[in-house]
Amino acid sequence: MTENKKPLLVIEGGSGSGKTTAIKGIREYLQDWKFFREPGGTDYGELLRTAVQETHGIEIDPMAAFLTYSASRANLINTRVIPILEGLREGKGVLLDRYWFSSYAYQSSEKVDKAIIVAVSKIATKGLMPDLVLHYDLAPELAMVRKMNCDDKDRYDMKELAFHSRVRDAYLELSVKYPDFWRVIDVSQSIPKVLDDSLVTLKEFGLI
Ligand code: TMP
Repeated sequence: MTENKKPLLVIEGGSGSGKTTAIKGIREYLQDWKFFREPGGTDYGELLRTAVQETHGIEIDPMAAFLTYSASRANLINTRVIPILEGLREGKGVLLDRYWFSSYAYQSSEKVDKAIIVAVSKIATKGLMPDLVLHYDLAPELAMVRKMNCDDKDRYDMKELAFHSRVRDAYLELSVKYPDFWRVIDVSQSIPKVLDDSLVTLKEFGLI
């Protein structure tokens, strides 16, 4: 794939990391950017999101879940994100709330082979890589306490601490694998400090 004309910024993080709050703050500074969430981001993707996400008590095989996330992702990346980045659709840049790194972290923690996740994700996204990943990192013990008081828990939020520890470890593995574009933000800090660290990084990468 040729170099993008427009920037791609990805936000990642485990459950209860304050990702949603951080995104709200960041979006104020990204006027005229397009924003999408995964799973979802397109009509078809939102249907898949409901199918894979809002189903409590229905058995979903981890590989089937991974392929559903990948289908949602392929639709979003090919019909929206790439055309924007190539200047064929409107938007100064694209902000993605999660990308295939979420599959790497979550589905590998359910024992889907990491090499398969990387290979399929590459096919689903035509190898599109971000200019910057902001990774909101928090010890799962703290994240679970934060999430306890929320009533919008999905099927992964219900999982045990060991699962969330594996998710965190897989994310941190990616931070080592992709040092050029991956930045870890410590979200045990106050909300203003987290936003401040995020904005400093966006400036460092020339995105604001
Ligand atoms: P969120 O919309 O609050 O970020 O929640 C999305 C949920 O979906 C979260 O539990 C992580 C999960 N997920 C995966 O397991 N794999 C994926 O590839 C993606 C995009 C999300």
